[in-house]
Amino acid sequence: MKIIVVKDYEEMSAKCAEIFINQLKNKPDSTLGLATGGSPVGTYKKIVEAYNNGEVDFSKVKTYNLDEYCGISILHPQSYYYFMHDNLFNHVNIVEDNVHLPSASGENFVKQCDEYNAMLHEAEIDIQLLGIGSNGHIAFNEPGTPFDLETHVVELTDKTRQDNKRFFNSIDEVPTHALTMGIKNIMAAKQIVMLISGANKADTVLQLLNGPITEEFPASILHKHPNVTVIIDEAAYSKVQK
Ligand code: F6R
Repeated sequence: MKIIVVKDYEEMSAKCAEIFINQLKNKPDSTLGLATGGSPVGTYKKIVEAYNNGEVDFSKVKTYNLDEYCGISILHPQSYYYFMHDNLFNHVNIVEDNVHLPSASGENFVKQCDEYNAMLHEAEIDIQLLGIGSNGHIAFNEPGTPFDLETHVVELTDKTRQDNKRFFNSIDEVPTHALTMGIKNIMAAKQIVMLISGANKADTVLQLLNGPITEEFPASILHKHPNVTVIIDEAAYSKVQK
């Protein structure tokens, strides 16, 4: 696991965008694994800037997102479908057919997981972007999720719903379930880049870097992946330095 410590969110976003921009320059038909949440917003902004400067082209790029909330329409501003279009896809020349997110719009969530999982088996993700939940979750694989699980329906923990409340009007609006890639799907990516920013993730960083590999802290599995870069800002790294 390669650790890069940067000054702040801005620098973290610039470093991560640079990795993705280089990936697209070296392989214009890359398959990207993408994440939502607060951590990647700055990265997407910088990738859009690079697109506007003519540095990257998305016409041959394919994307697969990690997860989607159940029970909210894709038109809801907090759906991950909406988030991805708002932050990235609407601003670059990606072909909509090349964009993939788990669909949680119907009623048969298990079937929708199986369909998404089949798509993932056909794909080969060159580089996967990840955030991390304060409880160590990756995608929506909450503590206790078996490492060998593939795409599945998950009941979100109270901690995750509280953490994500900031994006909604109230806790009651935060969905209770989501569809998520499993840890096995994430580990199949050729390369993984994780972003960690802010003092509220300082204990999470400590656990990730010094704790054991355990299903109780899902991100710990990344120690077993051969090509992981974790970009951490000083606030999130603060407890490691003491
Ligand atoms: C988002 C996702 C989540 C987030 C994590 C951190 O697609 O899968 O695992 O990466 O909850 O969220 P932020 O970046 O908002 O702290």
